Amino acid sequence: MPRLRLGVLISGRGSNLQALVEASADPAYPAEIVSVISDRAEAAGLAIAAAAGITGVAIRHDDRQAFAAEADVLLREQRADLVCLAGFMRVLDTAFVEAWRDRMVNIHPSLLPAFPGLHPHRRALAAGVRFSGCTVHFVRTEVDAGPIIAQAVVPIQPGDDEESLAARILAVEHRLYPLAVRLIAEGRVRVTTGMVEIDGWQAPTITVLNPGGPLAATLGL
Ligand code: GRF
Repeated sequence: MPRLRLGVLISGRGSNLQALVEASADPAYPAEIVSVISDRAEAAGLAIAAAAGITGVAIRHDDRQAFAAEADVLLREQRADLVCLAGFMRVLDTAFVEAWRDRMVNIHPSLLPAFPGLHPHRRALAAGVRFSGCTVHFVRTEVDAGPIIAQAVVPIQPGDDEESLAARILAVEHRLYPLAVRLIAEGRVRVTTGMVEIDGWQAPTITVLNPGGPLAATLGL
């Protein structure tokens, strides 16, 4: 089976790009990265692409439509099958989003639909939720919205601040994104009526309480 060809859009650090690079280094992984595009020439993620021998290109983002047109040409030249937004911090042109409908995914560090947009960790803490996490979803024109493919739950710990929570969620993002891309590459993911169906979907059976500890244990759950 040919591997699914990924185009990855970044704006900065590129740690999720790195996770996808590492996953695809395994020849058994069903996807490979063929193109990395950044809207910022100084993005650290471009060095990650270069180190992995992947073509990385910076496209200036003076104009939303011009950026999208140039990115589209590059992605088609590289015959990308799937676009992965990995810390891409711009709102994409509507026509581009429609052109890549159900062929473009994003990762966001919250349990969507909670806390889309900026500062999701800060907002989760301010809301006092006991769990946050991360979501991989198909991209629609609304920011951080679209059919959900996969999520991971991360409990809030006493004393958490924005930085500690972001770090714990990020470590989980690096596992969730390659998993979601694998499911798509294996042809197991379908979007029907705005929802995602996954062939052979298995869910974990545990339920976690937070606060946990001995008190939760006495509930016998
Ligand atoms: C990640 O938390 C991702 O979920 C969000 O932006 C951050 C990007 O980090 N969309 P990195 O550039 O992948 O390290």
